[in-house]
Amino acid sequence: MGNMKLNLKIWRQNGSNDKGSIKDYPVNDVSEDMSFLEMLDVLNDDLVRKGEDPIAFDHDCREGICGMCSLFINGEPHGPGRGITTCQLHMRMFKDGDTIHVEPWRSAAFPVIKDLATNRSALDRIQAAGGFVSVNTSGNLVDGNALPIPKDDADTAFDAATCIGCGACVATCPNGSAMLFTAAKVSQLSLLPQGKPERKRRALAMVEQMDKEGFGNCSNTGACEVECPKGISISHIARLHREYLVATVTKE
Ligand code: SF4
Ligand code: FES
Repeated sequence: MGNMKLNLKIWRQNGSNDKGSIKDYPVNDVSEDMSFLEMLDVLNDDLVRKGEDPIAFDHDCREGICGMCSLFINGEPHGPGRGITTCQLHMRMFKDGDTIHVEPWRSAAFPVIKDLATNRSALDRIQAAGGFVSVNTSGNLVDGNALPIPKDDADTAFDAATCIGCGACVATCPNGSAMLFTAAKVSQLSLLPQGKPERKRRALAMVEQMDKEGFGNCSNTGACEVECPKGISISHIARLHREYLVATVTKE
């Protein structure tokens, strides 16, 4: 297998007030062993050498953990792979001569900072509104492992905890809803004994913040589950609905 020639069509936008447009970037000599982000690094090195402005995109760990990478590739968040982030996408998923469209996450709640980098701090604010447990750290701690937890609950909580907060669920949702993210964060805590005392306040506060940030409503299209790199199940959204309903009807 030789190296590939590709025609990249990349969104360029010089700040949130700029209108932005797609620009063509033909690239030669792309190895199938490169990751998608390495391929962009090589393109950026070329642009810098030519005195042009490099393409801004988010990344950090480059191993599927941090949730920073966020490219909409050929109409899908994190590209054509399943269960992987953009940084785990390799060029062997593409063919010589392919045209590849690269855009930022699109959502009213994620304004573009520059080119492919968006501001996803709205997700952080949802988390800060209630995605925590208040623990007395005065020294009289009970070992968390001393609390018996049904295996199914522990497993489901751990599955929910794998959400990396990337926002692919929002980017792919036709309503720009952050329900899968919020549901994962609520589920992770509400299933465990340590999270139960604050469950009502948590569900109400996180949903309120989600609405305040301008995310749309969930209409059960299920696209979020398909595109989530961590396979977060939409069954967590059903749990969030139950948590929210119980919190609403039993509110003092
Ligand atoms: S639910 Fe999945 S797609 Fe949404 S933020 Fe978490 S990891 Fe990303
Ligand atoms: S760069 Fe951290 S998940 Fe992709």
